[in-house]
Amino acid sequence: MTGGAPLKGEIMIAGAKNAALPILCASLLTTDPVELFNVPDLQDVRTMLKLLQQMGVALEFPNPNDRSHLILQAKEITSPEAPYELVKTMRASILVLGPLLARMGRATVSLPGGCAIGARPVDQHIKGLKAMGAGIQIRKGFIVAKIAEPNTRLQGNAILTDMITVTGTENLLMAACLAQGTTILENAAREPEVGDLAELLVKMGAKISGIGSDRLVIEGVPTLHGASHHVIADRIETGTFLCAVAATGGEIVLKNCRPDTLDAVLVKLKEAGLKIKKGADWISASMSGRPKPVSFRTSEYPAFPTDMQAQFMALNAIAGGASRITETIFENRFMHVQELNRLGADISIEGNTAIVEGVDKLSGATVMATDLRASASLVIAGLAAQGETQVDRIYHLDRGYDRMEQKLTQLGANIRRMK
Ligand code: EPZ
Repeated sequence: MTGGAPLKGEIMIAGAKNAALPILCASLLTTDPVELFNVPDLQDVRTMLKLLQQMGVALEFPNPNDRSHLILQAKEITSPEAPYELVKTMRASILVLGPLLARMGRATVSLPGGCAIGARPVDQHIKGLKAMGAGIQIRKGFIVAKIAEPNTRLQGNAILTDMITVTGTENLLMAACLAQGTTILENAAREPEVGDLAELLVKMGAKISGIGSDRLVIEGVPTLHGASHHVIADRIETGTFLCAVAATGGEIVLKNCRPDTLDAVLVKLKEAGLKIKKGADWISASMSGRPKPVSFRTSEYPAFPTDMQAQFMALNAIAGGASRITETIFENRFMHVQELNRLGADISIEGNTAIVEGVDKLSGATVMATDLRASASLVIAGLAAQGETQVDRIYHLDRGYDRMEQKLTQLGANIRRMK
């Protein structure tokens, strides 16, 4: 891409990747069809659909030209397995573990390996499922789980996770829906994507209270039925485009989004100088002049999301002053720092804090994406930099963004995908 062009125009925000992934797995909990709308067309979604089909789940696109509308039906699950080949490409595959155990009484899921941004163990998922009566062993890199005799169903229990875990909460929530008795999830994640999954489960007949709070109470039911659901808008895609216009200047309108799920990011963007107007499902943002430096620390929802940290750092890199960014969720989520410095940024790291000295201008270079949000950060920096920037390994970007370069082109950016 060649930087320097202000962004102008209007784009539609897609459905949330981190809501769609657990929601696709919820289809395993019933033999009925589950109809979904606003599903984003992303690499991770395609991987999850492949995994579910391999298990025997039927997939239908009612309108072949519209991949955001699909029907899944797990009439019968022929193989309750998640093979290493798929799990190694997408950690979120762990989300089939809870539903398979609840539905089939057994599951074999490859342990997700490490990940660029951190070790990301799944010990809390396992601890919670054991508390619900699952016998779990780790064998040759696989989680082999089955409901311990003489029970045929998981047993409700009170579970307190050691830390707030998004997919841990989602796995245990799905498992609890079909358990015998009541489950209490203390220290539950409050991310909007967890709430969106819970809304679908309730439509399927689950009995869940405390949605949106850190204490979920689930009264198990014998079966769940089908439902249809519109996936919540992606707050991280929304925040990413807002950081982009704050960095390049200009004026954009984002449609089909959910401003109410992005408060912490909007507050910080306003501090940076972005002018924001919003409605129930739209945000208009305009930026003129140099961004102001804004310090922040990432934390669980509703605080500033870790998934927006890299993107906001690209904005701080050209701000008029110094800022401090502290990452409290993952132990290695600063790999974009060295790449931003190759573009002329002046960022140093002290433990889990990055000190960003704003520079007047970034200058284009070839940089390498290392993980999903780092790649978005490099695109934002490239759009603001002088000259041409090439971002390599953008398969990371495709995991979580639906046609980003097309949307940016629509907004007037000079960007193209190279074969
Ligand atoms: C979800 O990952 C998201 N992925 C991540 O988004 C997001 O960054 C993360 O939540 C934090 O918000 C999906 O929803 C598919 P965690 P998840 O369990 O659930 C530790 C993106 O960019 N932990 O909330 O895997 C863990 O190591 C991705 O879209 C344990 O120690 O994150 C981390 O330090 C990246 N043991 C912290 O908790 C466990 O059993 C939070 O992890 C579980 C987690």
